[in-house]
Amino acid sequence: MERLNLSRYRKDFPVTRRFVFLDHANMSPSPVQVGRAVNKLMKEKMEYAHLKFDVWGAQVEQARQNVARILDGRKEGVWFANNTSDGINIIANGVEWRKGDNVVMPNIEFPSVVYPFLKRKATTELRYAKADYAEDGVQVPVSEFERLVDDRTRVVCLSSVDYGFGCRYDLKAVAEVAHRHGSILLVDASQAAGAVQMNLGSDGVDVVAFGGQKWTFAPSAGGVFYMNPEMFPKFTPPFVGWFSVADPMNQILTNYTEGFEIAPDARRFATGHPNFPGIIGLAASSQYLLDVGFARVEARGLEVSGYLMKRLREAGFGILTPAEDRKRACIVSFTIPDGNAVIESLKKRRIIVSGYLQTRRRGIRVSPAFYNTNAEIDAFVESLPKSKSSS
Ligand SMILES: Cc1ncc(COP(=O)(O)O)c(C=O)c1O
Repeated sequence: MERLNLSRYRKDFPVTRRFVFLDHANMSPSPVQVGRAVNKLMKEKMEYAHLKFDVWGAQVEQARQNVARILDGRKEGVWFANNTSDGINIIANGVEWRKGDNVVMPNIEFPSVVYPFLKRKATTELRYAKADYAEDGVQVPVSEFERLVDDRTRVVCLSSVDYGFGCRYDLKAVAEVAHRHGSILLVDASQAAGAVQMNLGSDGVDVVAFGGQKWTFAPSAGGVFYMNPEMFPKFTPPFVGWFSVADPMNQILTNYTEGFEIAPDARRFATGHPNFPGIIGLAASSQYLLDVGFARVEARGLEVSGYLMKRLREAGFGILTPAEDRKRACIVSFTIPDGNAVIESLKKRRIIVSGYLQTRRRGIRVSPAFYNTNAEIDAFVESLPKSKSSS
């Protein structure tokens, strides 16, 4: 594969002129192409009001197409959500729960995965798959899902890449366990989509939610909700509105006694007016990733984060993220004493990383993207206090 000309792509990211920015798992900078697309939308809105609705509608369709490619899913399964939490709530509120049902998820999950189900704890049991704090990185073994999932499990829910430790799950293996017991597999792809290629079809993932503000470089609220279209006949959207129907522009507004015809595709999960700035920003950012070449984005992201792991290992830090490429994406976490103070002192030197909550108070989380250079990684590692790791 041809190597990326980094200096060319770095010009698209003005953030590189201010910071060594290594915190994409938190919220990424958008490339200038995204700014231009959103500015154009706002200019059109100022000058044309709704008269550009069709133009924006075409861009929404483009976003669906692009996202389907990045997820290797089906375009008709893609719709949008403000954020991951909205998407997870569609499932938590849409499943027809029976008393005694359970949900299985890792015990290291981000709160947006947990709370929509925890809210139902009076009737629905939450079962936590235990993370293994192994020498070669923190991971939740598939055997944990085997142990907990049973015929009363309705949802297995996990972040395909963990936000704190950076481990990547074997989705195919977890889907196999979930499906054997008639459960759906719901994936929070916040730390995976846009960083690594997902293969929803071949992995057997049923539902995906993610916010666009991280690895897909979209504006805030440019998130995605995806459902495998084969699930549509079995799942009733919990929230509907005028935009959820088959033909929103030609509804008979005089007679509501006959019910309504739900959209045949994932637009059934829309309720009202689309979030054009978020979605059009996502159309531009996903197009940007496809234009750079998504395979190259993924390869460089793994390469630069792999280089970071090597440098940290040489410096004697204990790494919390699994080393193998297939078991991680672009997040690297490591232990260091007094991580929060280190993060603050790095910020003064214009080096941006995060941690603490994410690493359960164990250290620092670093999340470089494809456009970061090895020299930026060197600058980061060389700015760390010399003291070695502590767990
Ligand atoms: C795994 C994961 N899920 C969800 C979120 C955020 O949730 P939302 O998109 O609802 O703001 C984050 C980080 O902010 C995350 O790391």
